[in-house]
Amino acid sequence: MDSTQTIPRQFRTAVVPAAGLGTRFLPATKSVPKELLPVVDTPGIELVAEEAADAGADRMIIVTSPEKQSVAEHFAECPELEDTLARRGKFDLLERVRRAPKLLEVETALQPRPLGLGHAVLQAESSLAADETAIAVLLPDDLVGSGVLETMAEVRRRWGGSVLCAIEVPHNQVSAYGIFDVAAATDTPDVLRVNGMVEKPAVEDAPSNLAAAGRYLLDRAIFDALRRITPGAGGEYQLTDAIALLIAENHPVHVVIHRGPRHDIGTPTGHLRAAVDFALQREEYAGPLRDWLLQRLGVGE
Ligand code: G1P
Repeated sequence: MDSTQTIPRQFRTAVVPAAGLGTRFLPATKSVPKELLPVVDTPGIELVAEEAADAGADRMIIVTSPEKQSVAEHFAECPELEDTLARRGKFDLLERVRRAPKLLEVETALQPRPLGLGHAVLQAESSLAADETAIAVLLPDDLVGSGVLETMAEVRRRWGGSVLCAIEVPHNQVSAYGIFDVAAATDTPDVLRVNGMVEKPAVEDAPSNLAAAGRYLLDRAIFDALRRITPGAGGEYQLTDAIALLIAENHPVHVVIHRGPRHDIGTPTGHLRAAVDFALQREEYAGPLRDWLLQRLGVGE
């Protein structure tokens, strides 16, 4: 069943913050934005756009810096390249080249200075239509696959407010994430009410090991909260702090615990793992890659 046809749509705009310097990928990111680095053969930003489109978004606002406008160019049509591929009979490639521009409408909003994730999200507000009551925010460093945003939308439809995606992380990693303070409040074990949220806590201060995993379905009230926060962890305007403010003001916030695959492609190691995982799922790459990996690791010798 196509859920987008039966459930009233909870959002139509996906906001993707992509203004970071990509320091963890230097020197590659001297001239190539991190979001364009390929996972096998597809830039991370296209995978995120595909996930958003699958969940019903028809527009993506990429929040980026003046130096990184080329991220949006990936979604432009390329008539000359398409003609050449068509003339050469390379129809598989032609289809892949045409995919990104067809996914959804793409716009950019500028974040002139890197003042934090909360500040980045705030830059998208002026592009929204008056009747948009919520937005999806997708952090392009996190890949969670299709289906998660749809579940989050269903939770918002039932409970209202804002809905976030959580993953369980080892306790010694909590200080790399936004961490949730939760309570069971629904009839579904993997949907919890959020009582508080703290950005990158010390291990001893963390209220749980449930971490924000880069997918947010945020009520429009978030913009008002973002205007009221002060710089937090790392001296930046944190999205987590605006969500914590909404919770303190009794705005309903829930998390959906995601137990499926998730990749952090914001680090070279995580990116490599994602590439290997994705390649092993692709018929044209899986066999030879698997054989080489086994040989390289000396398995079965
Ligand atoms: C951001 C958020 C954090 C979240 C994380 C998920 O942190 O601020 O709350 O848990 O993404 O990847 P960053 O990784 O950008 O420092």
